[in-house]
Order: sequence, then C-alpha cells, then structure tokens
Amino acid sequence: MKRRPLIAGNWKMHKTSQETQEFIESFLSDVTKFSNCDVLLIPPFTSLDRAGRLLSESHVFLGAQDMHSEASGAYTGAISPGMLVACGCDFVLAGHSERRYVFGDSDDVVNRKLHAALENELRPILCVGETLDQRQADQTEVVLEDQLDGGLKGIDERMLADIVIAYEPVWAIGTGETATPEQAQAAIAFIRDWLEMHFNKPAAAAMRILYGGSVKPANARSLQSQPDIDGALIGGASLDPDSFAQIIAAAQSLQGVDDPC
Ligand code: PGA
Repeated sequence: MKRRPLIAGNWKMHKTSQETQEFIESFLSDVTKFSNCDVLLIPPFTSLDRAGRLLSESHVFLGAQDMHSEASGAYTGAISPGMLVACGCDFVLAGHSERRYVFGDSDDVVNRKLHAALENELRPILCVGETLDQRQADQTEVVLEDQLDGGLKGIDERMLADIVIAYEPVWAIGTGETATPEQAQAAIAFIRDWLEMHFNKPAAAAMRILYGGSVKPANARSLQSQPDIDGALIGGASLDPDSFAQIIAAAQSLQGVDDPC
C-alpha cells in the first residue's frame, strides 16, 4: 500500500514569533508544491497564532509540540487542545522523548493527551523510541511494545486512522548519530506488525509511521526509501528553510515527483 509521506519540522525551543514569520515567508516563496507529500511545521507555542495566519492559505499543516489533556482549568503554564485548534493547528506531538525524559510524561499521560487530541479533531503524532542503554540491552522491542500499549490504550481502529506514529530512537535525537536505514526499517516494521496484531492488517498497512533522529538532507533519501518509513520528524535540520526544503524534495522524488516542491 502506498502511503502519503509526512515531513514534519519540530522546532523545539527555537525561534521567536518574528523569526517564525521570516522562516515561513522564505520557505513559502521557495516551496510551492507538495503534490505527493504532506508538510507540517511544529513551532513553539508562542509562534502558533502567527504561523497559523501565515500558513492559512498554504498547503502546509501546523502542529504543536505538546498540550494538556484537560479543556481548561487551574494548570499554570499549560495549553489546552482548544487553544491549539484556535491557532489553526491540525496536529500535536504526544510523548516526544524530551517530554518523556525531561518533563516526566508517563505512558498514561501520553495516552490521555492522545484521546484529548482526537476529541478535539487534532491529529496526534505518538512518539516512541528506546534509549541507548535499552538498545544495548536488547530491549528495543520491549520498550516499543510498552509505549505502544500504554500510548494507544482505549484507541479503536476508527480512531487509529487519525493517528501518526513517529519512531525516534532517543540515542539518535540531536546527537548527529542517525539510525541506519536498516535499523529504522526494522523498528518501524516491528511497530507495523504490532499494529496488525492489535488492530488488523488494513489498519496497520494504512498507518503512517515516521522516522526521527538526526534526519538531514544527506540521509533523508536513504531513510525514506525504506518500505515502511512514511516520512520524517525533523528537529535541527528543520530550522533552516533550505535544508527542510531539501528533505521534502527527497520525499517527493521518491514518490516520482522530481521537480523541487
Ligand atoms: P533531531 O530531532 O532531528 O534534531 O535529531 C528530532 C526530534 O526530536 O524530533
């Protein structure tokens, strides 16, 4: 089954609202066509409203890096799903490893965010992945199983269609060390098999599963040419409009569209 790739740029704690505007203006002037892939920008909260206005006439989707699962209330510092929707967000990350390991998001918290996103018509991107110690101890599959089990609790097949999964080995994030295409393919094929076992074959075959962890223009094509990899979640290399556009062009060319998008 041919799945439409998704190329997502997660800016983490980078770029002011003004810098976001400069990026988007430059990016949109160079990158006009995405006939065969979806493109998503995930700036920090303070840029979302401005980015939503700037992207509203484009084909570029907007996403948030995190959110609270409650609709409103006494949660100082938190942002609700409805606030994201009001800024024009289509997607939201859930369980990024920096949320898990720096801010302590458990599988249970991630699962609540996933449900809250779906209830608000936001498409969640569930991030999963093992640490270096876990990989070296041969625990990769166990960790992925636990994170999938916990993160997707209470999700049925109909809901699954609106979810994207990102496999992001923690040891490859921001380290410059990328999983080899074969390592990424093996982990993502494992995730797809898990989905087939817990849901069914068509649902698993339709699911978009991204790779993330030091994706750059130089390795984007070899990673995305793997049969189970349906796009990329990119941190550092998405901060520059040219390198982000090159990664999109790699995805496009693998879909048989050679002109720069
Ligand atoms: P990186 O980050 O591309 O800078 O490794 C990826 C991510 O955390 O999503």
